Amino acid sequence: MTALDVVIMAAGKGTRMKSSRPKVLHTLAGRPMAAHVVAAARALEPRRVVIVTGHGAAGVEHALGRLPRDANAPALQFVRQEPQLGTGHAVRQAAPLLGQDGTVVVLNGDVPLISSDAIARLAAASGGARLALLTVVLDDPTGYGRIVRDAGAAVRGIVEHKDASEAQRAIREVYTGIMAAPARHLHGWLGRITNDNAQHEYYLSDVAALAVADGVEVLGLPTADAVQVTGVNSARQLAELERAWQLRQAQALMDDFGTRLADPARFDLRGTLDVGPDVEIDVGCVFEGAVSLGEGVRIGAHCVIANAAIAAGAVIHPFTHIDGGAAGGVAVGEGALVGPFARLRPGALLGAEVHIGNFVEVKNSTLAAGAKANHLAYLGDATVGELVNYGAGAITANYDGANKHRTVIEADVHVGSNCVLVAPVTLGAGGTVAGGSTITKDAPAGALSVARGKQVTIPDWKRPTTAAKS
Ligand code: UD1
Ligand code: CA
Repeated sequence: MTALDVVIMAAGKGTRMKSSRPKVLHTLAGRPMAAHVVAAARALEPRRVVIVTGHGAAGVEHALGRLPRDANAPALQFVRQEPQLGTGHAVRQAAPLLGQDGTVVVLNGDVPLISSDAIARLAAASGGARLALLTVVLDDPTGYGRIVRDAGAAVRGIVEHKDASEAQRAIREVYTGIMAAPARHLHGWLGRITNDNAQHEYYLSDVAALAVADGVEVLGLPTADAVQVTGVNSARQLAELERAWQLRQAQALMDDFGTRLADPARFDLRGTLDVGPDVEIDVGCVFEGAVSLGEGVRIGAHCVIANAAIAAGAVIHPFTHIDGGAAGGVAVGEGALVGPFARLRPGALLGAEVHIGNFVEVKNSTLAAGAKANHLAYLGDATVGELVNYGAGAITANYDGANKHRTVIEADVHVGSNCVLVAPVTLGAGGTVAGGSTITKDAPAGALSVARGKQVTIPDWKRPTTAAKS
């Protein structure tokens, strides 16, 4: 393997996105387009990754500079291209950072789904000696650079749409914008590209003809996978590519793990999803961050689930929102039932067979096996023992306006409806708290605690009546 340097072009304006956000920061599957490209590049373990920025440079550099990377992956290097005089000019800005040996791969920040396999094949075809162009055959090649081949099918050059003759415009094989070039030739070619063309731009695609002139072999390698090489120029194209990508992810889950998706067209994965066997997912669910679903898990319609581990046999009923956040995470135990309309926030750790019902919110709380909170309740900063029954409308008052405090509810406690547990407070094992109680002191184990106004009866009380008008 020859040394590999990668250039990612990301300076263009993206006018057709009609957005103040730099084009390459628009997200696909929840990640900036350019972040997908960076990940594909880094998977090849290149010597360098150089990103050419221009429009919105500071924002692009900030967003991409923060991407996590493996210890041995190269840090991203940024160069600015101002003004933007074309793709050839863009790569020329990166040239001083590139080696004189090995292979230079050029990628586009707005072609997000290029796979590392495809790049690796292209780099191998170049081998630091040949110019390898990734091409694709399109039904409608309008706007793209055409691959011009001679009678023997050898590539003679790339002609941009605006410079192409009628005959050339009939060519359906186009340049994808992705190439692998021998570094020892590329530096010279970049210096020889002119802007003598219809757009008065420095076209990187002109290196093809320069290579031919220098007797360097040029390979046009067609891909059968148009999705991988589709560029994004507009909101509509971004949405189309998003759907194409989501469908692929859905099909992979069905094919590889037998996951039963009610409708693969209504499935969104913006992160990673590990699934066991016999998982069922109804329509309209969104998965973000790192989510795992154990064997036999069922997810009802319209759930949003982020950064959570859901154990075997658990059922998440419709319209549930689970967000484990960056740290803490959410864990749902085996056979647990959650929802409909439940909300699990960071640090919600549910044991086996726990039940969380409608309009129940759980944050930073541990619920041991068999605990239940079935209706309209809040558990924050609480430790809940086995088989606790937490009544409708009960809440932990965990925040005093300055600090958070813990509530400890030991095993088998029954908390009646509409109780306020003012933390810090402990309810001893097996105790019962009467409905409507405001608990401010620890409640002893095994006893009934009542903390509410006593009911009084006024037998002869008369309801007020409207005063007669005078
Ligand atoms: C380019 C190719 C064309 C190919 C097409 C595939 C050239 C001249 N043409 O055309 O053959 O069929 O891609 O999509 O290369 N960029 C910069 N600086 C610039 C100009 C562009 O960084 O000065 C970046 C853009 O942000 C974008 C990429 O380069 O990521 C491609 O630029 P774009 O203007 O989209 O090129 P096309 O005209 O589509
Ligand atoms: Ca383009």
